[in-house]
Amino acid sequence: MYKKLYPKIADALVEDGYIVIADALPDKLSQELKQFAINEKEFSRAGISSKSDLHLDDTRRLDKIHWLNEDGACQSEFLSFADGLREHLNCELYLGLSYYESHFAIYAEGDFYETHLDAFKNSKNRVITTVYYLNEEWIEDDGGELVVYDGEHNFVAKVKPDANTLIVFMSEKFPHEVLSTNKKRYSIAGWFRVDR
Ligand code: OGA
Ligand code: MN
Repeated sequence: MYKKLYPKIADALVEDGYIVIADALPDKLSQELKQFAINEKEFSRAGISSKSDLHLDDTRRLDKIHWLNEDGACQSEFLSFADGLREHLNCELYLGLSYYESHFAIYAEGDFYETHLDAFKNSKNRVITTVYYLNEEWIEDDGGELVVYDGEHNFVAKVKPDANTLIVFMSEKFPHEVLSTNKKRYSIAGWFRVDR
């Protein structure tokens, strides 16, 4: 499924290390995932990893998350899109990606996530990051953009969290932050890993 996107993503990861794709998946899937996130009551505060322990830190990260699983058609469809991408990247780029983990995230008004790298310190487990957005009619004043930097902390890209926009990037190469949002903001963040 969605085979057309796979080579485009693989090529961009090789060329630039990242890609932003508008209207990535079928609208219907995007809408169902949004509805699923709205209906899902079990969200909890996300953690920050520092060395080996995971703790909550109000000054750095304020979103609430819910890990995806195979319950419900829309989660399964999204995960099968990701798994197809994993297989394609392994075939084309020999990355040896073994696993994809992903969570819905809700940022309430005023929430943000300070600049960070997704690959945990002292561990190279997270190789490729995906973020998929679920927000219809997002305007500039709503804030909540993802800002991506390069290894020298130069600006690379600013991504509006528009419904059905997907960004994929090399986890270790791009520090990034979520600017404070002025409106409730929904997304699915995911990582292809080399362990498990
Ligand atoms: C993350 C993250 C970005 C976003 O969850 O690690 O960087 O735009 N999310 O939601
Ligand atoms: Mn991140």
